[in-house]
Amino acid sequence: MSSFGNGALDCIDTSSDADMESMTKGTETLGPEIFIDDDRPGLSRFDAKPRRAAPRTFESIGAFIFDVDGVIADTADLHATAWRRVADEEGLPFAEGLSDELRGLSRKASLEKLLGGRSVPADAFEAMMDRKNRYYAESLHRLEPKDILPGVTCLLDGLRRFDIKLAAASASCNARTVLSCVGVMDEFEVIMDGNDVARSKHGLHQFALAAASLRMVPQRCVVVDDSTAGLSAARQLGMRSIGLGERDRLCAATMTFDSLRGVEARTLLHWLDQSCARKDAVGARR
Ligand code: BG6
Ligand code: MG
Repeated sequence: MSSFGNGALDCIDTSSDADMESMTKGTETLGPEIFIDDDRPGLSRFDAKPRRAAPRTFESIGAFIFDVDGVIADTADLHATAWRRVADEEGLPFAEGLSDELRGLSRKASLEKLLGGRSVPADAFEAMMDRKNRYYAESLHRLEPKDILPGVTCLLDGLRRFDIKLAAASASCNARTVLSCVGVMDEFEVIMDGNDVARSKHGLHQFALAAASLRMVPQRCVVVDDSTAGLSAARQLGMRSIGLGERDRLCAATMTFDSLRGVEARTLLHWLDQSCARKDAVGARR
């Protein structure tokens, strides 16, 4: 896994082909906030020169599948706040660090985690899930386009210029509301949410549903997710992934960033394309 801190990068598609070639030579520090921490060839720098066209394609990558909560908007915090309110009302402890552990878990799995082994009658369990959903849905009324997370719009635009298909896929039954509130419903060819997962005959994961709907094999899909659960699912499905946030919960990711701020499509695609080529080469030698 390679990791990038990227707080201060500009959001422009920047590199020339010559720059790109130099980006693939060796491992080095990428400035104060970007680095690669393994010995694989990777990006050596982000250049500040703007570039007009996107002349090459990246055959190994056909689609990007974006998780919604914590990737498109900071709704992971809103989920956690709603659960904390239920916990307070029920006299349940809400340990530090639980917010992050709840990322990517279904509503039911989240409540089980919150209960920490305490058993409650089925109707009380349902009532707590409903209450949490009410609190969460209320908090979405305040969500607006300015709440889209940094770098998202720019990366979507950049990927589209390379003919990459775009999907949004979430475990949340509220994901379409979130996408609509931040104004990106029309950015995606395919949207899969918790309702689609519940309807799917074989209980397929939302990423698998999105790939199938895009008619894309998993090997050509890249998932962007902020949770251990989501990144593990991507790996199990044979998809590459970009993990966002604290590195310790992103071990299953192909590469990680603090956030999408300043992450440019061209550089990202180049790196992912290379990681695929290297994996193929290793496979061929075996
Ligand atoms: C995921 C969130 O996207 O959706 C989880 O990361 C949440 O925190 C899950 O529990 C289900 O969401 P909802 O809105 O259907 O309860
Ligand atoms: Mg998420």
